[in-house]
Amino acid sequence: MEDGIARIGVSLPKNLLEEFDAVILNRGYSSRSEAIRDAIRNYILEYKWMEREEGEVVGVVNVIYNHNVKGVNDSIINLQHEFHDIITTTLHIHLNSEMCLEMILVRGDMKEIKRLVDRISSTKGVINVKLITAMRE
Ligand code: NI
Repeated sequence: MEDGIARIGVSLPKNLLEEFDAVILNRGYSSRSEAIRDAIRNYILEYKWMEREEGEVVGVVNVIYNHNVKGVNDSIINLQHEFHDIITTTLHIHLNSEMCLEMILVRGDMKEIKRLVDRISSTKGVINVKLITAMRE
């Protein structure tokens, strides 16, 4: 049994909601509420997983950023030099006239990798950061 149902009101940019609706339509969700519940569950799971993880990890940090934002390129390069101990390789893909995808291959202690992810996430101009771990040693 569900432990009661709470209703919430959420304000979203219109285009974000339109994108969300398009995705859930494609994925066959019968209602927006159901899709939002799943999204929140996944968000919590991902957070808990990130919190718990420690030890040696190999993975990739995918960073999407707008290179027109002043200073963002320098910030991302400086951070990578700061964390050179855990960074193996970096791939840079120019997605379109303004957006870049930087794929940072990492190998090292999860705590350090998380620190790198946090620092990149809080950099101005960065749109999205996602860590995918390939294996644990
Ligand atoms: Ni680029």
